[in-house]
Amino acid sequence: MEILGIDVGGTGIKGAIVNVKTGELVTERHRIPTPEGAMPADVAEVISQMVTHFNWKGKVGCGFPTIISAGKARSCGNIDKSWMNVQVDELFATKTGLDFYIANDADAAGLAEMHFGAGKDKTGMVVMLTIGTGLGSGVFYNGKLVPNVELGTVPYKEYKRFEYFAADSARKRDELSYSDWGKRFDKFLKLTNRLFSPDLIILGGGASKKMKKFEHRISVKVPVVPAKFENNAGIVGAALIAI
Ligand code: BGC
Repeated sequence: MEILGIDVGGTGIKGAIVNVKTGELVTERHRIPTPEGAMPADVAEVISQMVTHFNWKGKVGCGFPTIISAGKARSCGNIDKSWMNVQVDELFATKTGLDFYIANDADAAGLAEMHFGAGKDKTGMVVMLTIGTGLGSGVFYNGKLVPNVELGTVPYKEYKRFEYFAADSARKRDELSYSDWGKRFDKFLKLTNRLFSPDLIILGGGASKKMKKFEHRISVKVPVVPAKFENNAGIVGAALIAI
């Protein structure tokens, strides 16, 4: 079975058609920059362009960078405040005429890794962390998702949120080397470890491809591994939500 998976991020909206039996992308991935300000109507327009690009007529799974319950945004993450309480599945369905299934983006990325990637067959506590514009988290206990755990928004000193201190956007903003940024990210790993005592931590998002450059900074005594799907985990997991 094939499903269109879309990963809505703070800087890019990425999609591909995914074989949900194997986790493979059956098309090239297509990326459209997130519209300036990420207002609901503008993001819905990009979603519609994505559907048109793939000439897609079936169900769509979508990872979204906020808390999501029953298809509704319950926070605003790094996107516009007007997303609060928007019924995201309905907004995108009305725009495209297709059925949409929505989950938090990091929860979706984690689903992909638990099904087909670094978390496959892993029991106990597994935490997926996505490193991008924000810091996303997906928590799995014995393979089952505990939805909407938000570690990136935990307060941190004057930075206000941990993600403002240690996301990839903070590395770019403060012009840090991967090694210096890795020292910050290690603090986030320590927080994760303290709260969840995980058996495994999986890193996804753009920075997961650069793990060689910062792994010497990791001090937690838990295996920390890159996502098998690297930056595509969000697309693959998004498609799985719609099964
Ligand atoms: C949001 C999370 C999201 C993460 C990554 C954070 O700002 O609060 O819900 O998973 O960014 O996109």
